[in-house]
Amino acid sequence: MELDRKALLRAAMAAREFSYAPFSHFRVGAALLTAEGEIVTGCNIENSAYSPTLCAERCAVAKAVSEGKRRFVAIAVVGPEDSHTTPCGVCRQVLYEFCDESLVVLCGGTDENYMETTLGALLPCGFRL
Ligand code: THU
Repeated sequence: MELDRKALLRAAMAAREFSYAPFSHFRVGAALLTAEGEIVTGCNIENSAYSPTLCAERCAVAKAVSEGKRRFVAIAVVGPEDSHTTPCGVCRQVLYEFCDESLVVLCGGTDENYMETTLGALLPCGFRL
């Protein structure tokens, strides 16, 4: 599967437009690339009770898995344009449920300002039953 980094980051940037973040004002978008070449997006969705808040990455994973898509090759995550927003610990573990250490993680920013890493680097010794 060819990885078009800019296309994946742009999809995450487009999803960021739908972010619902009235409490933190920290708007995040995510885009998962499936092994079949499809892109599934997500955004963070906050809640008045705070703890039910859904991160953009888990939103994208839930959308994909609920549509029968479970094999992923990359994810792009974009927070504020001047940042390299990395997935939180919970999202790293959720990604690890479906992906191995080789998952490419693009952390933006924008499609020109991002850091590239892998799930294995972000989550050493991830938990599996
Ligand atoms: N957030 C994400 O959506 N993904 C991350 O990787 C980091 C944090 C969201 C959760 C919350 O809505 C806001 O960013 C501030 O924590």
